[in-house]
Amino acid sequence: MLDTTASADRQINPIVKAMTNEEKVDLLSGFGMWKTAGFPAHGIKPIVMTDGTYGVRYSIPQIDGDERGGMDLDAFLSVVNQRASDVTVAWGEMKSATCFPNGSAMGNSWDEALMRRLGTLLGQECRAMGVHLLLGPGINIRRTPLAGRSYEYYSEDPLVTGKLSAAVIEGIQSQGVGTSLKHFACNNSEVERTTMDSVVEERALREIYLKGFEIAVMQSKPWTIMSSYNRLNGVQASEDPWLLDQVLRREWGYAGVLVSDWHGIKDRPASLMAGGDLDMPESPRRKADLLAALETGAVPAKVADLSCSRMLDLIERCHKGAEGPVPAYTAQEHHAEARAMAAASMVLVRNEGLLPIHAAMRQILVVGRDAGTPVIQGSGCATTIPTMVDQPLEKLQEALGPDHMLTFRPEADPQTLQLAAKADLVLVYTSTEGAYDGEGSDRTTLALGPGQDEMIAALAAVSGKVAVVIACPDAVEMPWIEQVGAVLVTFYSGQAMGGAVADVLTGTVNPSGKLSVTFPKRLADVPGFLHYPGENGRHIYGEGIHVGYRSYDLREIEPLFPFGHGLSYTQFAYSDLTLSASEIGLRDRITVAFTVTNTGDRAGAEVAQLYLQAPSKRLKRSPQELKGFAKPMLQPGESRRVEIELQGSDLAIWDPALGRWVFEGVDARLVAGASSRDPHLAADLKLKPSVLPFRRLAYDTQPAYVLPNAIACDRICDYLTKRCNISAEDARRMLDHCANSFFGIFTSLERRLRLSIPEAEVATLIGEINAAMDAAEAEL
Ligand code: BGC
Repeated sequence: MLDTTASADRQINPIVKAMTNEEKVDLLSGFGMWKTAGFPAHGIKPIVMTDGTYGVRYSIPQIDGDERGGMDLDAFLSVVNQRASDVTVAWGEMKSATCFPNGSAMGNSWDEALMRRLGTLLGQECRAMGVHLLLGPGINIRRTPLAGRSYEYYSEDPLVTGKLSAAVIEGIQSQGVGTSLKHFACNNSEVERTTMDSVVEERALREIYLKGFEIAVMQSKPWTIMSSYNRLNGVQASEDPWLLDQVLRREWGYAGVLVSDWHGIKDRPASLMAGGDLDMPESPRRKADLLAALETGAVPAKVADLSCSRMLDLIERCHKGAEGPVPAYTAQEHHAEARAMAAASMVLVRNEGLLPIHAAMRQILVVGRDAGTPVIQGSGCATTIPTMVDQPLEKLQEALGPDHMLTFRPEADPQTLQLAAKADLVLVYTSTEGAYDGEGSDRTTLALGPGQDEMIAALAAVSGKVAVVIACPDAVEMPWIEQVGAVLVTFYSGQAMGGAVADVLTGTVNPSGKLSVTFPKRLADVPGFLHYPGENGRHIYGEGIHVGYRSYDLREIEPLFPFGHGLSYTQFAYSDLTLSASEIGLRDRITVAFTVTNTGDRAGAEVAQLYLQAPSKRLKRSPQELKGFAKPMLQPGESRRVEIELQGSDLAIWDPALGRWVFEGVDARLVAGASSRDPHLAADLKLKPSVLPFRRLAYDTQPAYVLPNAIACDRICDYLTKRCNISAEDARRMLDHCANSFFGIFTSLERRLRLSIPEAEVATLIGEINAAMDAAEAEL
């Protein structure tokens, strides 16, 4: 069992006490690229770990080859620089595994049960290959759609990110296989990925970038967490005591193992001191550095012993997990499940009555190379060698049967345009340029691949019946959107994408995915645009808490498609929103309920969303924040009561000045709807304040911020009465007289009263006022 007590109270494993410093260093370092060291004398066996986030990536030479496997940098770079288009090159070198829909596809499922299932299947494949620890899921916030690894990550929203990743972790770990929740934290772009300093204010960290991790850690207890490559506010993330020790271990109580990203540690002793347990992969230099630090006492023995104990817990857990029979499954079975997952995740963003394909659409023209060779995944360490790949054209023909005539053209040449003009439906399969982006490299544009926009526009100019199927890592621009009849965005949907698209186009599966990111009309609308990608090694996250839809809403920018948007072939109605209480305090709970009805004539699932709209007060809030979601599956005419439990803390904001989660007293609203821009129901909800609406006093606080604060005014008046020997009324008059001064309250009083107030007395007074405010807040 992993110890869940705070690190400081943890017991040291007796085996550790019998270990030499050399052995401890070995235990806290990789053994080769993908294993930990074994210690037969102590009865400790190695464990095997491997990528990735949506499929198991098992390198035969690096894991089964020589004992240490793939120690050199070239071997490692061949992993992370793997191009999705080159996967065939790795056949024979890699074990094939089911390539499930990638994170940015699965994020649109908004379906925790499906994520749990995905985790279960990944766990089964790990068991079958003898992998103890899968290096995923990756959950960095998709701050910009250009980010090279956004195809692996779930959302721009921390709640979707946290809930979905917790479910996938639960699924993997239910199979006795460990996870590595990554990359902690703020690895939101690939530009200068191992050196860039993500400069992020604390509110944005707490409410957005760390929140998904917090939710997942609390709910699913991942066996390991992987630190990220970048710096965070000036400190290397893998060596950051605030991030790793203060927040993760002390505040969240995380007791699992902290793994470094591969070669992500620059100063090994510093990383261990900060709480980084396992340094991956093996590096003779870093091992020597740590040994020296242990020998000299620069790293105290008890710090290493604590990390070694955590490692032993993990190793024991991994081997326990590997006991018992390996679950039986076939590649076909997992492929079929991957198809269902892909179909449940793709998003029909536009449909002018064109889809699903119906009997009268006999002549169907299919255009685009992607119909023959689909893009199913992104490039990098997550790239999986699929067990099989659906060919979209073939799968579509199979699904439609012989009554529909499919003609395929790779591009929109003049002949193709003639065919398009006569076809009952023109289906375009397209994608972004897959050549350069992925791990290690961001996209440079939101456009589709070269020539693709022109191809779609040309087809739309001759046919009013164009439907476009887009494979993309994240949002893309669609300059031709008004000219086409339907758009299905698949993201990178994995090896069964072809079959899943056929299922959705033909209506065998009713689409139910909704966008877990905003699609902007143009790159310049992206919230981080002004600061991206940073310069001189610093990337300032200038938009603060207003990430994704929060920023589009605040700036009143119309997106191409809003966060949470997705269409179905049926319709849904929302009714009867009720709250179990009309006000909520920081430590309270309420239940929100509303009814969703399928008013159409097909069965379908609806992602119903719940947003909090709380006005800004002393601290600014985004216009709305997602606070809950549910995905009921409904038969035609069926109604379901959706219930969402909210804890006060879910609605709180982080006050960096106080260093805690707070409620400002405001009249807020809860809004239930079909997307962030499609509200259906609203109910008022009062947030009971947990803080006073004033900042703590400082020497130079302006009178305008002091005068409304009764606690401060009373004490200052009291002081003035005694110090100047004046009546309480005169003291109050003096204070009010300062109202128009923009100098500090004490400076203003001194000038007005023509007296000098000793600094020590001011300091005492400020201390008393702030303590009284603390006491008043404790009563709230
Ligand atoms: C990636 C990690 C990955 C590791 C091992 C790194 O470059 O950032 O996500 O798990 O390599 O392949």
